[in-house]
Amino acid sequence: MSQESSNKLSSARLNEPTDAFVEAFTASVEFDQRMYREDIEGSRAHARMLTKIGVLNDEDLQALLKGLDQIETEIAEGRFNWSIAQEDVHMNIEARLTEIVGDAGKRLHTGRSRNDQVATDIRLYLRSQIALAISEIRRLQRGMLELAEKEADTIMPGFTHLQVAQPVTFGHHILAWFEMMQRDASRLQDCADRMNVLPLGSAALAGTTYPLDRQYTAQLLGFDDVCRNSLDGVSDRDFAIEFCAASALLMTHLSRISEELVIWSSAQFNFINLPDRFCTGSSIMPQKKNPDVPELVRGKTGRVNGHLVSLLTLMKSQPLAYNKDNQEDKEPLFDTIDTILGSLRAFADMIPAIEAKKDNMYKAAQQGFATATDLADYLVRKGLPFRDAHDVVGRAVALGVESGRDLSEMSLQELQGFSEIISEDVFDVLTLEGSVAARNHIGGTAPEQVRQAIEDARQRMKGL
Ligand code: ARG
Repeated sequence: MSQESSNKLSSARLNEPTDAFVEAFTASVEFDQRMYREDIEGSRAHARMLTKIGVLNDEDLQALLKGLDQIETEIAEGRFNWSIAQEDVHMNIEARLTEIVGDAGKRLHTGRSRNDQVATDIRLYLRSQIALAISEIRRLQRGMLELAEKEADTIMPGFTHLQVAQPVTFGHHILAWFEMMQRDASRLQDCADRMNVLPLGSAALAGTTYPLDRQYTAQLLGFDDVCRNSLDGVSDRDFAIEFCAASALLMTHLSRISEELVIWSSAQFNFINLPDRFCTGSSIMPQKKNPDVPELVRGKTGRVNGHLVSLLTLMKSQPLAYNKDNQEDKEPLFDTIDTILGSLRAFADMIPAIEAKKDNMYKAAQQGFATATDLADYLVRKGLPFRDAHDVVGRAVALGVESGRDLSEMSLQELQGFSEIISEDVFDVLTLEGSVAARNHIGGTAPEQVRQAIEDARQRMKGL
């Protein structure tokens, strides 16, 4: 980064050069340069539109397009001399353009302000990053379906209050994760759709005196429409907040999944094995294998939640229209993008590689009277009102606790001691297999339903 001072923008109005510290303090080029492609793309479209309405001539346009191409290459190849004196990505590129093509470069900013320029750049940039995030969510979802298919029949305890509640299939549990991701993808797409309107033409705040063809610029840049109010066009950052909100929820989901993976891979649960490539050892304890990836994702959720609060706070007191405060939107936004893309990538790689320790899961489901509700339902089917059935089973469970046995380990006689309507067929419902197979409806845990849900999920993914 070059530090040299230059006769920077609008200096004709100012009687002394900007203080060196203030120059560095107010500059954004160190972080907004990552939007250089979008800035150049926006300038190409603006130049074409200005030519179409006769503000630029064809010669200017060709020079500008050539210059912009050259700058894009220089930046991509790391040969571009970014300067703090030029403050931000927009001024750096414009200054270099003028260096390369002369007066045409100075004409590019006709009918445009950095206020509508930056609002356009962020939207273009975020649009492409949302597309990337959604494709990573899709990859993760495919991995989840792959694992769910493999584990459609695997029985594990389902929990409430982290206490064994009822048996479920592991495949069914994984499909719950799939649903979270499905909503996240749809929320991000929703944000992208609402964001896809063009601010250019709003100029500094009030619009411009040139007869701009805004719809043409929008069409060139792939926007669905133009912002309908210039004051709003330059000052609106709802989309950044929406994106961070959608990302905070996405991270919250990944964090909840992480928590389960951490618990399940502990020696005490021992339900799953996370392949070594997603874990690390300890520098002091030779026996350790730590689930670093889920732990880190759980931890990174905090920073994204923080970015959401940053942006809300950034916007809450700003009068219309643009204020320099808005420059502070970028770092939280960019860090949110990096965090969700990294977390999704790690998850998409890791999830299909999870190995289920089926025996341990099964044994855990045999504890804690997981089929007690099945016994109650059985009694209801035989004519007992549910509340009475609940009471009968409660007494049977008390005996189980006292004698250290599961319901399925009691004799028919013993069970009949609690209710004489119990007969031999009770043992069909007391098995774990019988219990999960009986929950055979849309959204239920039966292996048959899990297989059907996987098929449906593949279709639903295509729909979005
Ligand atoms: N770097 C600025 C930002 O990120 C660009 C817009 C500057 N506009 C202005 N009037 N100073 O918001």
